[in-house]
Amino acid sequence: MKIGILGTGNVGRALADGWAAAGHDVVLGSRRSQDLELRSELEASVGDRVAVADPGQAVAGADVVVNATPGTASVPHLASLGSSALAGKILLDVAVGFGEGVTLSHPVESLGEEIQRTFPDTRVVKTLCTIDAGLMVAPGSLVGPSTLFLSGDDTDAKRTVETLLNDLGWPPESLLDLGGIATARGQEHYSLLFMGIAEALGSYGFGIQVVVPTSTQSL
Ligand SMILES: NC(=O)c1ccc[n+]([C@@H]2O[C@H](COP(=O)([O-])OP(=O)(O)OC[C@H]3O[C@@H](n4cnc5c(N)ncnc54)[C@H](OP(=O)(O)O)[C@@H]3O)[C@@H](O)[C@H]2O)c1
Repeated sequence: MKIGILGTGNVGRALADGWAAAGHDVVLGSRRSQDLELRSELEASVGDRVAVADPGQAVAGADVVVNATPGTASVPHLASLGSSALAGKILLDVAVGFGEGVTLSHPVESLGEEIQRTFPDTRVVKTLCTIDAGLMVAPGSLVGPSTLFLSGDDTDAKRTVETLLNDLGWPPESLLDLGGIATARGQEHYSLLFMGIAEALGSYGFGIQVVVPTSTQSL
């Protein structure tokens, strides 16, 4: 699959590396694509199997576009590419917007919903935002299975994203489809609890698992 990733930070690099290793055709879309220092940094972290281009080029050739930009900047950044450039494409949205301190830039309507509302012809799927970048591509390094969530209005788009998550090592039983894009609110709000757990553990390296009773009688 052709994947264009917007943002070359921790998440963009980790996902680029993971999907390139799985055999996908990955382009990192950077606002600084001509910056030689960034290019050599990317060469060191993702090697030469990932191309680097400007954001417009990365989106143009992609079946799936990944939003790995700061959540406070995502909508203007996507808008700068033009809604027609994104029309019909799947947009896998990993972003969360943080305000001052541990607050969300989208405390009511989620960022995922705002993106879907702003780009109605784009098929937005929110996922991966409940886990640290390193573990997004290494779920098997956790001591037990972890749950990953999907939110989106387009069922086919979610099924495609599930296969991409499988390619990163997430087994089907780890994936929980929460429903429409409005359910992205819960995923984004989890970031606040994520920060609390990270503070308590002294590490971002953890996953969470949804567990159910062993039998309905125990309910
Ligand atoms: N880090 C994590 O473990 C983690 C986990 C879950 C969710 N997330 C979310 O995933 C997103 C990316 O996280 P990250 O840790 O990779 O962030 P990051 O390291 O800060 O990287 C974000 C990248 O986005 C681009 N960018 C920065 N400012 C921008 C702007 N104003 N407009 C457009 N592009 C901009 C930059 O790439 P270029 O300069 O190359 O364009 C930058 O490298 C965030 O929304 C974050 O909340 C992160």
